[in-house]
Amino acid sequence: MSDQTNSSWGGRFSEPTDKFVQRFTASEQFDRRLYREDIQGSLAHAAMLCQQGILTADELAAIEQGLRDIQLDIEQGRFEWSVALEDVHMNIEAALTARIGDAGKKLHTGRSRNDQVATDIRLYMRESIDRISAELSRLQHGLLELAEREAATVMPGFTHLQTAQPISFGHHMLAWFEMLERDFERLQDCRRRVNVSPLGAAALAGTTYNIDRQFTAAQLGFDRASRNSLDSVSDRDFAIEFCAAASLIMTHLSRCSEELVLWTSAQFDFIELPDRFCTGSSIMPQKKNPDVPELVRGKTGRVNGHLMGLLTLMKGQPLAYNKDNQEDKEPLFDTVDTVHDCLRAFADMVPAIVCKAEAMRAATMKGFATATDLADYLVRKGMPFRDAHEVVGSAVAYGVEHSLDLADIDLPTLQGFSALIGDDVYEFLTLEGALAARDHLGGTAPKQVLLRVAEGKQALTTR
Ligand code: ARG
Repeated sequence: MSDQTNSSWGGRFSEPTDKFVQRFTASEQFDRRLYREDIQGSLAHAAMLCQQGILTADELAAIEQGLRDIQLDIEQGRFEWSVALEDVHMNIEAALTARIGDAGKKLHTGRSRNDQVATDIRLYMRESIDRISAELSRLQHGLLELAEREAATVMPGFTHLQTAQPISFGHHMLAWFEMLERDFERLQDCRRRVNVSPLGAAALAGTTYNIDRQFTAAQLGFDRASRNSLDSVSDRDFAIEFCAAASLIMTHLSRCSEELVLWTSAQFDFIELPDRFCTGSSIMPQKKNPDVPELVRGKTGRVNGHLMGLLTLMKGQPLAYNKDNQEDKEPLFDTVDTVHDCLRAFADMVPAIVCKAEAMRAATMKGFATATDLADYLVRKGMPFRDAHEVVGSAVAYGVEHSLDLADIDLPTLQGFSALIGDDVYEFLTLEGALAARDHLGGTAPKQVLLRVAEGKQALTTR
């Protein structure tokens, strides 16, 4: 074949494509990544054409053999990609015809690259969602293990990044778990809309051949065939939806990252990350930097960017297919790679987090974390909550002035703030007491943490 005109559509052209335009309009440089899905789709299409009497059994056999050989060539690095052949679809089709002759030229009967590429992307997305979901589940499992191990480990809970109330470290890990649980559900929900077959929509209007769309849909493991040919070849909403789910995953990982970065700092010193997840500084010998969480936090930006890119790509397109859609691939591929790798890094790292229980306890002691518990104590003794809030406020002010935590203030002094305070008060001012008291669904009591861990583990086994 000449490398100047494209044999697939060159018939109506009187001069070769400009060299630069050829490269500019080509996508084989990046869509070759879809070779497996493309071959899978072609095998299903060819089998359908044979079943419908449009291809002979011999032609089908030749096509099947040819496509399998081509797949092997690609996987063993022997395949010669040509930019003149524009994209993955025409590269493979041309190679097929070169191998098997006229039967290869019949493969494209009753289809177009428009439904072909839509099919390829949907197959690719489905597989990507499954791979990402598996990493996400692995991370969730790690969080449950960590939550179980540290169910009774006390740390300060924050609002406004100011010490608020004591919580268990396990409870904090379960908050991350719940975020990811919703992310998992979003992926599964998105998968239902991805898993629909556009094959048979052809260029835009359907085809004049007697095709069987249910056959190809079933062959490719799709739940059903799509219902409108124009919509099938043009919309990429399923990809945008995936990118939105991906952005939320990254947003969650980024929040976790931010906490890991804070917690590993000398100022917090709550946890340690194993050396294998950190790097050093070339100038400051004492440094151990939490690179993995920092990078994950940083990569959130590009994933969010891809979502915005795809939304913008779609917004101005009239029906049906437009070449604009070729621009969906690079952001999509990068989103898949980035989210997958970030989840993988986290899933590897989380079980290896080492808690510094003493440091967390000391930090909790410093911030009057049991002030609400003292107020609740007074309420139980009959004081209205607003008055109790006021009384405890004065006690805290006293503690600040004398550098004492509430539990360190002696009884007569405490009773000076309210006569309702008895010597039983101290059991409510301990950190363990404060944790154990929040003993209801969703509360931080270690008992509740362990219940949720058990539930979570059960849910993960049924995936
Ligand atoms: N490379 C194209 C894409 O990614 C394939 C479909 C091309 N169709 C066409 N009519 N030019 O969207």
